[in-house]
Amino acid sequence: LSIRASSYADELVKTAKTVASPGRGILAMDESNATCGKRLASIGLENTEANRQAYRTLLVSQGIVPGIKVDKGLVPLAGSNDESWCQGLDGLASRSAAYYEQGARFAKWRTVVSIPNGPSALAVKEAAWGLARYAAISQDNGLVPIVEPEILLDGEHGIDRTFEVAQKVWAEVFFYLAENNVMFEGILLKPSMVTPGAECPVRATPQQVAEYTLSLLKRRIPPSVPGIMFLSGGQSEVEATLNLNAMNQAPNPWHVSFSYARALQNTCLKTWGGAAENVEAAQQALLTRAKANSLAQLGKYTG
Ligand code: 13P
Repeated sequence: LSIRASSYADELVKTAKTVASPGRGILAMDESNATCGKRLASIGLENTEANRQAYRTLLVSQGIVPGIKVDKGLVPLAGSNDESWCQGLDGLASRSAAYYEQGARFAKWRTVVSIPNGPSALAVKEAAWGLARYAAISQDNGLVPIVEPEILLDGEHGIDRTFEVAQKVWAEVFFYLAENNVMFEGILLKPSMVTPGAECPVRATPQQVAEYTLSLLKRRIPPSVPGIMFLSGGQSEVEATLNLNAMNQAPNPWHVSFSYARALQNTCLKTWGGAAENVEAAQQALLTRAKANSLAQLGKYTG
């Protein structure tokens, strides 16, 4: 039995390597309309298409590899402990082919795992299986899949509990990625950093976050995966930069970088405030964060 490799194999490897190259990361700006509405409300703007477009137009600049969110969002997972699953596999192959034609070269699918709600074995399995099917379909259509099982920060648990859950989740994700014949050289990962729960009174230093997160990656992620692009998950801008910088103090088998939304956009969004005359200042604010995180990717951020 031979498994047919994607006809895009060489291009997938090249795309993944381009995104995961020194000093580079990803600006996540694919918030759902609902999430974008929350962000706009924080600066007193209405959630209209015009406002979303005005804001996102200010965010994009040149020399980028465009990617697209292809999942259809989270819905309750029947039979679980109030957990969710991520929809979007139906029709995914034809949508992906169309996105490739339109110029997209990578895709994103965000599923979440909640520690306070379990996670149940069912929720973890569903998350891992869905990600693996999406990854196989993406590669078949020329898109590098970003594999993102977001382990939510919410909760009072300590960092050891996050570590335990993350080990379980990533073991399962890689089990199903392999079962679905996904080519590891042509994927990117988007993990949560291993941190204490957001409501845990015991906080961790960037060095501790780096130590836990890197030992998770070393135990679970093969070196053939080119890039690990962390989400910020509600960390402050500076915290997210410091944690990334701490992880890059010694060479890693993979390109360890960022795919932040909030930790790149918070100040930018506030600076813009919906006013055309603030666009340039907002772009500067975005560039400041992008440069800081680019330095952190190289392990050279000094604050
Ligand atoms: P945050 O960096 O705000 O967590 O968002 C990243 C993202 O795109 C989650 O899918």
